[in-house]
Amino acid sequence: MAQLWGGRFTGSINELAWGFNASISFDKRFLEVDVRGSKAHATMLAKQGIITDKERDDIVRGLDEILEEVKEGKLEITDKYEDIHSFLEANLIEKVGDAGKKVHTGRSRNDQVALDMRLYARDEVVEMAGLLEKLLRTLEKLMEEHLYTYMPGFTHLQKAQPVTLAHHLGAYFEMFKRDLLRMKDIYNRMNYCPLGAGALAGTTYPLDREYTAGLLGFFGPTLNSMDSVSDRDYLIEFMSAMSTIMMHLSRFSEEIIIWNSNEYRFVTIDDAYSTGSSIMPQKKNPDIAELVRGKTGRVYGNLISLLTTMKGIPLAYNKDMQEDKEVFFDSVDNVSNCIILFTDMLATVKFNKENMEKSAALGYTNATDAADYLVNKGMPFRDAHSVIGRLVLYCIDKNSSIDDLTLSELKEFSPLFEEDIYEAISLKTCVEKRLTQGAPSPTSMQNALNSNKQFLNNFKIKE
Ligand code: ARG
Repeated sequence: MAQLWGGRFTGSINELAWGFNASISFDKRFLEVDVRGSKAHATMLAKQGIITDKERDDIVRGLDEILEEVKEGKLEITDKYEDIHSFLEANLIEKVGDAGKKVHTGRSRNDQVALDMRLYARDEVVEMAGLLEKLLRTLEKLMEEHLYTYMPGFTHLQKAQPVTLAHHLGAYFEMFKRDLLRMKDIYNRMNYCPLGAGALAGTTYPLDREYTAGLLGFFGPTLNSMDSVSDRDYLIEFMSAMSTIMMHLSRFSEEIIIWNSNEYRFVTIDDAYSTGSSIMPQKKNPDIAELVRGKTGRVYGNLISLLTTMKGIPLAYNKDMQEDKEVFFDSVDNVSNCIILFTDMLATVKFNKENMEKSAALGYTNATDAADYLVNKGMPFRDAHSVIGRLVLYCIDKNSSIDDLTLSELKEFSPLFEEDIYEAISLKTCVEKRLTQGAPSPTSMQNALNSNKQFLNNFKIKE
C-alpha cells in the first residue's frame, strides 16, 4: 500500500477497506489526462515563481517518461496505489526526487480529479460528436439513394400512408442531428477549468487560474471553488444525452429487427452483423440490433445511478463522487460501440425495395388520398371519410385493394368517382403530391437533404 496521506495515521487501514476505497482499478484511465493536468499546473506554478523553472522541467520530463513507460509496458499500474494520482506522484518522486514532491503545491486531489474527469469527458464528447457525424453521413447517403423507394408509413404499427425510405430515414437524421447539437451544448457549458479550486476553498498561493485554464484549452476557470470540486452536472447532461442517443438507436434497431423478420422482409442484414442458432440451422438472427436495443437499459441505469448518488451530497467534495467513474465509463464505452456498430450495420444492410413497394401498395395506404379525391370533387371531408370507410370494408370482404375495383363498383359508393381516380390514388401520386415541407415527396425530401448537407458541412463542435 502506497498512500499519500500516511502522516496523521498511527494504525494501518483494514485490508477490505483499502480495496473498497481504492479507485485505481478504474481511474487508471485518467493516466493521460492526469499527466496533462499536472504538466499545466507545474507550468503555471513556475510562471508564478512558486517553483523554479528547473523544477518545472523535471516534473514535465518525469511525467512524460512515466506516461511513455506505462504505454510501453515497462511500468505497471498496480493496486499497490490508491488511485492514479498517487501512482503518478509516487513514481514522479522516484524519478525526479524533490521536484516531484512539489507538483501537488496549491492543489488537492479534489480539484485534480474534477479536472481529470472534465478533460476525459470533454475528449469523449468530441469523440462522440465525430461518431454521430459518421452516422449522419451514412443516413444522408442512403436518403439520396432512396428518394423514390416507396414504403408504407405506419402508425400503431398499422399501415397508414405511403412514404419513401428517404423520408423514413430522414426522421432518424433529425433525431441524431439533435443528438449532435446536444454534444455541442454540453461542450460549451462544461468547458471551464476547475483546477485551482483546491480541496474546496482555493489556496493562498498566488495561482493564475486563467493561465492554467488557457493551457488546457478551456474557455476560462470555473467561478466558485466549492462548486468546482463538487459539480458533476456535465456528466449528468452527457449521460442524459447518451440515454437519448440510445433511445433513438433502440427505436431504429427495433425497426430493423421488424423489417428483417420473415414476415416483412424489407431488409436483409449483412452476415457480418448477424449470428446463427446452435440448434435451428435456418436461423439468421439480428443480434447486433437486439443488443443495441438491450444495452439502452444499462445506459439509462447509469444515468439514474449517478443522479441518485449526487442527490444527497452536501457541499463540497465527498467520496460518494468516486462512484461517478465506473457508470460514466460504462456508458461512453457502450454508447460509442453501439453507434459504431449500428452505423456499419446500416451501411451494409440490403433494402428490399420491391417488398417495400409491394407492401406500400397493399393495406389501403391510399385511403386518405381516395377521401381527398372526393373532397376535391366537392364532398365535405367527413362524408368522404365515411364513404371510403365503407369502400374499404367492401374491399376487405373481396380481398382486393381500392385500385382493383372497377369504375362502376366505385360509383356505387359515390357518383363522384371518375376515370381519374386511378391516377389520383396511385402509389406514385400519393407520395409525389405530398409536397408540404418535411413531407415524403422526393421534391420535399431533396430540400431537406440540401439543408442537412449544409448543416453537416458547417458543423464544428469547437468554434
Ligand atoms: N478517487 C477519488 C475520486 O474519484 C479522487 C479524489 C479523492 N479525494 C479525496 N478527498 N479523497 O473522487
